[in-house]
Amino acid sequence: MNEPLKIGLAGLGTVGCGVIRMLDQNNGEDIARKLGRPLKVTAVCARDKNKDRGVDISGYSWFNTPEELAKSGDIDVYVELTGGTDGPALEATKIALKRGLDVVTANKAMLAVHSTVLAKLAEENGCALLFEAAVAGGIPIVKSIKESLSGNSIQRVYGILNGTCNYMMTAMQNEGKPFDEILKAAQDEGYAEADPSFDVGGIDAAHKLALLTTLSFGTETSFDDIYIEGIEKITPEDIKAADDLGYRIKLLGVALKTDEGIEQRVHPTLVPSESAIGQVSGVTNCVCVDGDYVGKVMQVGPGAGEGPTASSVVGDLIETARIDKSANVKKTVFSMPVDKLAPYQRAPLKAHEGGYYVRLNLSDRPGTFAAVATRMAEFGISLESIVQRSHGTETDEKVDAAGVAAAPVVIITHDTTEQAVSEALKAIEEDGHIVGQPNMIRIERL
Ligand SMILES: NC(=O)c1ccc[n+]([C@@H]2O[C@H](COP(=O)([O-])OP(=O)(O)OC[C@H]3O[C@@H](n4cnc5c(N)ncnc54)[C@H](OP(=O)(O)O)[C@@H]3O)[C@@H](O)[C@H]2O)c1
Repeated sequence: MNEPLKIGLAGLGTVGCGVIRMLDQNNGEDIARKLGRPLKVTAVCARDKNKDRGVDISGYSWFNTPEELAKSGDIDVYVELTGGTDGPALEATKIALKRGLDVVTANKAMLAVHSTVLAKLAEENGCALLFEAAVAGGIPIVKSIKESLSGNSIQRVYGILNGTCNYMMTAMQNEGKPFDEILKAAQDEGYAEADPSFDVGGIDAAHKLALLTTLSFGTETSFDDIYIEGIEKITPEDIKAADDLGYRIKLLGVALKTDEGIEQRVHPTLVPSESAIGQVSGVTNCVCVDGDYVGKVMQVGPGAGEGPTASSVVGDLIETARIDKSANVKKTVFSMPVDKLAPYQRAPLKAHEGGYYVRLNLSDRPGTFAAVATRMAEFGISLESIVQRSHGTETDEKVDAAGVAAAPVVIITHDTTEQAVSEALKAIEEDGHIVGQPNMIRIERL
């Protein structure tokens, strides 16, 4: 048996302990047989040395900080699992790469913001920087795009990239309860964090989307250019109305190549109920790729959790162990060398084309229905349907300025532009026929 691959694990939380369990307690021997060399955790770091983690760490060298581990650990590969965009995670990763160590990480927040700098460091120093676990947890989408699909010109990559949101949207669909109640239940059951803002606000999905964009289109990672809208404003009335019209509402991350640049957007989206993506429920994630030769490819699986995330980290460690350092083969972090990545060009959202769902509370007076349809027509928007809904709990008490009751109306448009819909809704609001703000949700063409 050849020399072991010596692993330094920074972070002994859900993922770090999952990696230890997978290697030291369960699959280590099989992996060594496959590789012809064992994977051995030799050094670790976390904040609290004495915390009971349910795994025995007494045989590993202990470091107090990620930076110390990256600098002085007797290791071949540094594994960043502490989390966070900047701070010790970023510093230690830079130290490891400058030292010539390969790096494996699940830290999407760090990569979404710093991947270009880190990829440059990795390639300059001849190191691997692998991050399968950072995008959709256990789904092997990074390798799929980087390797198996790399001959394709990719037009669009999209998916359900956050399990917490999908769990909540599924529960709202099944139980008909409002967002706050479903969030509380999700927190009680451990499917949502105490501070859920990263998940429900769409930030976590955007971190993953930023990386998918770079992998798919060969552009520099540009997290700041992502349009992000969370699921907080979705109501049971929206879910019920969408359902009646044959749609499900999902938080999607979408990156699309257009003539004007690349759209990157994370927002609640209507998809047909019967579509494959419409059927993905609970915490499950999925990622879809539209390639010119392969057509549409969809991968579905667990997007988070100890086992699935450790599975991806260990897969990357196995890839690292297979690298022949003496062969001097250039390793690229993305689908091409980092200096060949094109600058990211953002397509303006107002030019986005697609169908729209709009729910508004319309004053129950003669002519208002027709006035709304006329306004839409003035902005070149043709309507697939316009339906008056019965009052839901949320809309029961609404009356307009003159004290006239308002009734919820749902409109589905044919394909149009974001600009046309925004301007039409502004004009409708100014006309004074509606109460409150209209709720607009994009429909994704599949
Ligand atoms: N959990 C998932 O399902 C999942 C899925 C995909 C990707 N990820 C990513 O994987 C990474 C790890 O996630 P996790 O869920 O395992 O996190 P976690 O359970 O919160 O664990 C974080 C670990 O890092 C340690 N740590 C944090 N800051 C540190 C610092 N400044 N110095 C030393 N140690 C520090 C903590 O030490 P203590 O234990 O001593 O406090 C803890 O052991 C994150 O980037 C996350 O986004 C997680």
